[in-house]
Amino acid sequence: MLTSKIDAKRLNTLIEINALINSNYKDAKSLLTRIIESATRLTMGEASSLLLVNSENNKLYFEISLGSKGSELKNFSLNMGEGIAGWVAKNTTSLIVNDVDTDPRFFSEIGKKISFNTKSILAVPMLIKDRCVGVLEIVNRTDGGYFNNEDLQWLEIFANQAALAIQNAREYQRIRDEINHLQDQIHVGKGFHTFVGKSRIILEKLELTTKIARTNSSVLIVGESGVGKELFAEQIHLQSSRKDKAFIRINCAALPENLLESELFGHVKGAFTDASSDRRGRFELADGGTIFLDEIGEIPLSLQSKLLRVIQNKVFEKVGSSVPMHVDVRILAATNKDMEKALEQGTFRRDLYYRLNVLPFYVPPLRERQEDITELAQFFLKKITRETKKHIRDFSPAAIDALLTYSWPGNVRELENVVERAVLIASAEYIQPEDLMLQTSNKPEEYRGETLKNAVNQFKKHFIKNVLDTNGWKQTKAAQELGIQRTYLSKLIRELNLRR
Ligand SMILES: Nc1ncnc2c1ncn2[C@@H]1O[C@H](COP(=O)(O)OP(=O)(O)OP(=O)(O)O)[C@@H](O)[C@H]1O
Ligand SMILES: [Mg+2]
Repeated sequence: MLTSKIDAKRLNTLIEINALINSNYKDAKSLLTRIIESATRLTMGEASSLLLVNSENNKLYFEISLGSKGSELKNFSLNMGEGIAGWVAKNTTSLIVNDVDTDPRFFSEIGKKISFNTKSILAVPMLIKDRCVGVLEIVNRTDGGYFNNEDLQWLEIFANQAALAIQNAREYQRIRDEINHLQDQIHVGKGFHTFVGKSRIILEKLELTTKIARTNSSVLIVGESGVGKELFAEQIHLQSSRKDKAFIRINCAALPENLLESELFGHVKGAFTDASSDRRGRFELADGGTIFLDEIGEIPLSLQSKLLRVIQNKVFEKVGSSVPMHVDVRILAATNKDMEKALEQGTFRRDLYYRLNVLPFYVPPLRERQEDITELAQFFLKKITRETKKHIRDFSPAAIDALLTYSWPGNVRELENVVERAVLIASAEYIQPEDLMLQTSNKPEEYRGETLKNAVNQFKKHFIKNVLDTNGWKQTKAAQELGIQRTYLSKLIRELNLRR
């Protein structure tokens, strides 16, 4: 009579759990907690644990533990084959041990550490397609009695339910990842980057972009080279109500003055010798959307007043025309230049600066957000291995260390280049520190024995190559960073025999 009552209770619980498994894929943890709570109650257990196998290192981790010392088990793991749970996982066989002291498989260390006295254990494997993904174990009966075969059979049914919940959750996660990847691809197809970052400082910045996105004010994005200024501009656009309209980019440093003017504002036929037809400028193309003026610090003074007028009155004329054009464009600008200096030197108009800088936005360098380094490195590794089809599993722990201790003068762009090169030269499944080829700074004592001239030349070589590398060998950019003329840089490259 008593058993049939319990059985009815067990059966009802199972039916309830089944319904939950079929309706809830996302929150596996609370579902598993529900399963293990029911299993513990219905087998009259004093404590219980659900352990999961980590397929990378083949260890068992305490995922959920109930009972007076449950929370303390979080920090422990078992090797495959170790302890009762380890044995069950290794042999994919259930086990009843009613007196652990007489069973050599029992691993008493954990119990001692958390001062928990184990007497009996009921443990069953959780199987997905015959592979053990974890173990469900119940410890000690509250009535001091023994676990029996019937308890074991019930627990096996619960373990099956738990395995199903895990399988659903993993499948769900896999599909989510795939959907995210496809969504990213759609973005990428439209020219947007996938934004990666999880440091507190970067999450705060992302939050700020959401707020900024709601306004129509101009934003000046500043920060070192390669920190991701353009990606933040993309984020502001993508989170704004203009997201379905155009996002037009233009690099103000890439074109000489007269071409830049017609590029930005367009021209009419005959405006100059080459103007054989009317042409729409970037501002016109961006109507209703956002324009991103990259390297705004390089815009010539002569164009600055025209730009100021667009910002103030949303009006401009095409080159060679006097007909005013009206546009509704949100302006985002970026620079890695010291604008204060440009203002002092008079190469940048103050009124324009204040208009652009209504909402200043600073992107911190990579060395100040260490948590992002691993995340970004993994992202680039996945992306590059996908593209090159080269099979590389991961970075070795030593390589991760090297990434974390490096100072990243070229920021995220440099990190991307480093990972790309490492993938190409890596000869094993795991990227090693040497594959990264990170330049650690040369100390003066390393030049001992050289003449001053030689030492200076070596330093120059090293230093210039580093700047070239971090700027993707764009000489104009590198020359700017070095504070020298481009022509002089070309000469140095030849003289010092620098190669990519
Ligand atoms: N948060 C990020 N997530 C993913 N990739 C990033 C991120 N930040 C930067 N990158 C990568 O680094 C590269 C450089 O970023 P970006 O062009 O935005 O830098 P920048 O600040 O505009 O540099 P510069 O001043 O030299 O133009 C991008 O092409 C992108 O691949
Ligand atoms: Mg840029």
